[in-house]
Amino acid sequence: MKTVVMTGATSGLGAVTARLIAADPEMRLLAGTRGKQVRGAETEQLDLARLASVREFAQKILERLGDTKIDVLLLNAGTNLRGDQRSTEDGYEVVFATNHLAHYLLLRLLAPQLSPTATIVITTSDTHDPKINRIAPPQHAYADLLASPPEDGGRRQGPVSFRAYASSKLCNLLTARAFARLNEGGQVQVVAYNPGFTPDTQLNRGTSRAIRIAMRVLVPLARRFAHINTAEEAGRTLADLALGSARPPEGRLYASLVRGKLTWPDPSRLAQSDDAMTSLWRESALLVGLKSVAEGTVE
Ligand SMILES: NC(=O)c1ccc[n+]([C@@H]2O[C@H](COP(=O)([O-])OP(=O)(O)OC[C@H]3O[C@@H](n4cnc5c(N)ncnc54)[C@H](OP(=O)(O)O)[C@@H]3O)[C@@H](O)[C@H]2O)c1
Repeated sequence: MKTVVMTGATSGLGAVTARLIAADPEMRLLAGTRGKQVRGAETEQLDLARLASVREFAQKILERLGDTKIDVLLLNAGTNLRGDQRSTEDGYEVVFATNHLAHYLLLRLLAPQLSPTATIVITTSDTHDPKINRIAPPQHAYADLLASPPEDGGRRQGPVSFRAYASSKLCNLLTARAFARLNEGGQVQVVAYNPGFTPDTQLNRGTSRAIRIAMRVLVPLARRFAHINTAEEAGRTLADLALGSARPPEGRLYASLVRGKLTWPDPSRLAQSDDAMTSLWRESALLVGLKSVAEGTVE
């Protein structure tokens, strides 16, 4: 029996992954959700926008597991709350807090429970890469600034919020690299997974009505000329990575689903920066209130 702990199992590509994992009698699936049930899984309450909820969730999971180790940890949940860059109760920008800080804390809290051969997949996005995202790519990965962005003339829409999303996904990638670095020489496998543009999920529920209507018209048209990933494909690929039927080639960590095919490209230049990786790991520890950064030193 393998034990899988997962976020983002209730919707979009993660719901597909959860369905496939739960259907396997050799798998025990534990999912963190905002109250929804996941068929075939044990669920615990988790609101990633609240660090207190992340701590409670981790505690509940550890209690449920007892001596059982985690074989697979899937940090897949994500939000793209455009135009709604409010602060969380912890005082941090909500997209950064939900997508990065919460998953960083969860990884740190569950790390001691991981099996020595565990697989960790963190869902990132190719929007982290300026070669792909020319509209509003990340400019840096300074956790303090992303957590409390300077006022931008009151603008909270369009590129400003898209940049916040893309930056949080850069942080997911850097966190994956940092955790892989910490476990170098061991058998833990870390993957940062980009499902690519997958419009048939709920990710853009926070966008304006005009954009949602435009997408409903344009995406089916675009499908006639180019392959656009579906939630089914993206979720199956995440399940393949989780369960080991797809494995990273030696020395690779960034997996990208391009036109339905799994590829292993280089991430952006900033995502490859060791300085950015190290300072993000350390600053994030302080932001989530972890007393010891030493345990998580990645130099
Ligand atoms: N779709 C794309 O084009 C695309 C491209 C690149 C990367 N991604 C990434 O793929 C991942 C999955 O996204 P998706 O496209 O499948 O979107 P989705 O359908 O909106 O699914 C997002 C999942 O995250 C959960 N979630 C969001 N905020 C949460 C919170 N505060 N606490 C707990 N759970 C929360 C949602 O739970 P609820 O059901 O409660 O809302 C849902 O299960 C995300 O990390 C996203 O950034 C997506």
